[in-house]
Amino acid sequence: MPVHETDILKALSYVDDPDLHKDIVTLGMVKDLKVSGNTVSFMVELTTPACPMKDQIEHACRTAIRKLVSEELEVDITMGARVTSTRQQDQDILPGVRNIIAVCSGKGGVGKSTVSVNLALGLAKSGAKVGIMDADIYGPSVPIMLDVRNEKPKVKQEDGKQMMQPVEKHGLKILSIGFLVDDTQAVVWRGPMVSSALRQFVTDTNWGELDYLIIDLPPGTGDIHLTMVQTMPVTGAVIVTTPQEVALADARKAAAMFHMANITVPILGVVENMAWFSPPELPQNKYYLFGKDGGQQLADELKVPVLGRIPIVESIREGGDTGNPVMLDQTNPVQEAWEDLVFNTARYIAIRNEELQPTKKVDIKYT
Ligand SMILES: Nc1ncnc2c1ncn2[C@@H]1O[C@H](COP(=O)(O)OP(=O)(O)OP(=O)(O)O)[C@@H](O)[C@H]1O
Ligand SMILES: [Mg+2]
Repeated sequence: MPVHETDILKALSYVDDPDLHKDIVTLGMVKDLKVSGNTVSFMVELTTPACPMKDQIEHACRTAIRKLVSEELEVDITMGARVTSTRQQDQDILPGVRNIIAVCSGKGGVGKSTVSVNLALGLAKSGAKVGIMDADIYGPSVPIMLDVRNEKPKVKQEDGKQMMQPVEKHGLKILSIGFLVDDTQAVVWRGPMVSSALRQFVTDTNWGELDYLIIDLPPGTGDIHLTMVQTMPVTGAVIVTTPQEVALADARKAAAMFHMANITVPILGVVENMAWFSPPELPQNKYYLFGKDGGQQLADELKVPVLGRIPIVESIREGGDTGNPVMLDQTNPVQEAWEDLVFNTARYIAIRNEELQPTKKVDIKYT
């Protein structure tokens, strides 16, 4: 009996996306389905290229077709990805950017910039188009961490407007307040200047097409944070903390900002950084220098997941200081922890996009 496309679709409707709890046909993930003679070909379009379940889903598709249609068919599956977004692509603000992710913390020095840089690199490594915006006026560290300290963004005339072009390295588009001012000037900038620089990064910059734009924020909740939520619809926030009580207490305050009236930015999850230390000569021993499970505790309070747990490792600090982020070193034993963080973040962005409404820019009225 000849096989029809509808038979294949029916079989594939038994394959669920494990995160979105719907079948891949309903989710519109099956593309370019063709049946020709004994061969079936189609593409499964995942919600992110950073999907650790790629092989599992492909296997489930083959099994469904074999069991429910025929054992004899030649099945040719391409696993692709199109990063989801709740944004309309024709907006004036960051028109080609599908997801805007803010990385924040309450306390300083807990590892926001380290997380931002390695997360951005990990997403790019999976095949996504990624940008990183360093919005930390008080200590812009992205140029050091990515070794682009001496770069300057070019300015091009586009449609009669002067547009900044982000610097490119390791497949990332990068913009930092550090490119515009030197370190000594930056700290004396006042609120309105900082806000207007950040606005320029958004309105007068050609970021092109991006799946993810990662924003590395200064610690706490200040002018920059308010400008950010007023200027752009942030898809979600990632909260970085160490497990210690003082960091958690500050992280709660940062989280509270996103829960303020008329701010609708969802918190994607918590990253517990400096979670433990393992001496290189005793790698099986874990010492919880800053306390244990603080990240989990915060995540439980906020009813969000822990996106990753990163140990204290000298090469992470060294990589940051020398402009060779640890994500670029495939052989580093801490890779796995970072990959978990990258996969989980991509995953919870996809879940957020499926389940929640688009974020609105915040309209704060001063009376
Ligand atoms: N897991 C880790 N293991 C070892 N060193 C780390 C780790 N995470 C961060 N560091 C180091 O700790 C220092 C502070 O990290 P980072 O600059 O990322 O923090 P931050 O939260 O961005 O700080 P700030 O609040 O000043 O912006 C850096 O020197 C960084 O290399
Ligand atoms: Mg920082």
